[in-house]
Amino acid sequence: MGVHHVSRLLLVGVLSLVPVGLFAQGGGMASALGVTVGKLQTEEQKRGDAIFHKNCHLCHISTPQKRELNIAFTELVGLFQKPNINEQAVRQLVQAGIPDRMPSFRYTLNEADMNDLIAYLRIR
Ligand code: HEC
Repeated sequence: MGVHHVSRLLLVGVLSLVPVGLFAQGGGMASALGVTVGKLQTEEQKRGDAIFHKNCHLCHISTPQKRELNIAFTELVGLFQKPNINEQAVRQLVQAGIPDRMPSFRYTLNEADMNDLIAYLRIR
């Protein structure tokens, strides 16, 4: 009886270590999910990257938890490779937002921020 209990505890212990192990091994969320983002080269792209991760990550960077809860949206990778996408439309969408789904960034991001963000999205 006593031995049985101990082995059960051990099993629980081992199982709870598994997710931690997966994350440690992934070397970052992006590579763990197989998302390859273009290399940041210009200052503009680097600032845009920071803006993106501050303002857009909630909805546009997927995590295992979000996928489990079914609340993952598009990661906007390769956005500008899509045939029907153009810069003007992306700017407008980000500034206006999408009613009930995506906030408007008209008052959050100024012209320079928008330029940086677009430079980043082009290589994302
Ligand atoms: C509260 C959630 C939320 C935030 C924050 C958010 N978005 Fe969105 N976004 C959405 C949803 C929902 C859609 C429409 C569904 C989809 O495309 O996944 C969308 C769609 C888009 C699209 C259109 C994608 C396409 O393929 O046509 C772009 C571009 C976009 N968002 C850019 C951004 C940028 C840039 C930011 C940060 C400045 C941002 N979003 C922040 C929720 C969000």
